Amino acid sequence: MMSPDATPSPDLSLALADGTRVPAVGLGTWKIDRAETPELVHAAIACGYRHIDCACDYGNETEVGGGIHRALTEGLVRRDELWITSKLWNTYHHPDHVRAACERSLHDLGLDYLDLYLIHFPIPQAYIPIEERYPPGWFVDPDVPSPRMELAPVAVSETWGAMEALVEAGLVRQIGVSNFNVALIRDLLSHATINPAMLQVERHPYLAQAKLLRFCDEQGIGVTGFSPLGAPSYVPLGMATAADSAMTETVVQDAAHHLDVTPAQVLLRWAVQRGCAVIPKTRRVERLRENLALDDFALSEAQMNALDLLDRNHRFNDPGVFCETGFNTFCPIFE
Ligand SMILES: NC(=O)c1ccc[n+]([C@@H]2O[C@H](COP(=O)([O-])OP(=O)(O)OC[C@H]3O[C@@H](n4cnc5c(N)ncnc54)[C@H](OP(=O)(O)O)[C@@H]3O)[C@@H](O)[C@H]2O)c1
Repeated sequence: MMSPDATPSPDLSLALADGTRVPAVGLGTWKIDRAETPELVHAAIACGYRHIDCACDYGNETEVGGGIHRALTEGLVRRDELWITSKLWNTYHHPDHVRAACERSLHDLGLDYLDLYLIHFPIPQAYIPIEERYPPGWFVDPDVPSPRMELAPVAVSETWGAMEALVEAGLVRQIGVSNFNVALIRDLLSHATINPAMLQVERHPYLAQAKLLRFCDEQGIGVTGFSPLGAPSYVPLGMATAADSAMTETVVQDAAHHLDVTPAQVLLRWAVQRGCAVIPKTRRVERLRENLALDDFALSEAQMNALDLLDRNHRFNDPGVFCETGFNTFCPIFE
């Protein structure tokens, strides 16, 4: 097992269609408490992270920006060595609102450009002005009894045109999508002037998404796997149980034992070895190092294949389920 004092190398990277390289391991920031965020982001950069995954909806971009600012000020890293992703929230899909939403994320993060800006979900929702509520979340009005989502009729093509304008304006370097399926991406490619550089989707051994990866590879679209550890992120939300964790699978435990690494490292290495970036979230400094240290071991072809066989097409983060249970609104997107 890696010593907690070992300095991991951030050398693993993923090449995008235009040759830009994305650090293959990033820090996820969903559900990191705002109070803990600046220190954690600073610690992540100090121990070698060069990729941070953010979003308006996570409600902590100001605090992420605080950690980045401190690291930049201390000279730990240069801005051009960092890869910062943010995401357009559902309520800003109308082209009139895309630039203001991006500028708010830039302001909060304290940056003058993003490396990557993603459409967070293919779920356009009714506009909530930034000055009225930020981040707006899922409800159109959280203060009524039984609050609901309100969808809005905005075509992906309209939103994408405004995303392309952000690249032209120099606010973002690359644009992409999240939680999109093949059919939506195929449609997007039919009209895009700037192709999506990246797709971010849930991906772990229980949701291997082999056909989606193959399609993205054919189209020159990079893939980032979110929730790469599977169940643990969803246990506190009541959307999974500890028993759903792939880390307890015998093939994962055996590989971890054989390679003298942790089960989490096996899952993350499996993703990276299949050509994906991963953005594991942790609020624990010792796990920051563990999750980044994936470049000094490799899974054998037999171990890779054994992990592939764990696939059961199980999605923990499914709007078709959580929008109904959490937000009183039936909103399937993958069916
Ligand atoms: N685009 C989207 O719609 C979308 C959706 C979900 C997530 N994301 C992004 O993807 C990131 C990662 O996904 P996620 O946060 O859902 O899940 P994750 O990174 O797969 O898992 C996080 C959970 O695993 C635990 N953990 C972290 N490292 C561990 C280790 N080495 N050993 C054991 N447990 C470990 C964490 O606990 P501790 O914090 O206590 O360590 C936390 O409970 C998010 O933070 C977010 O940036 C995007």
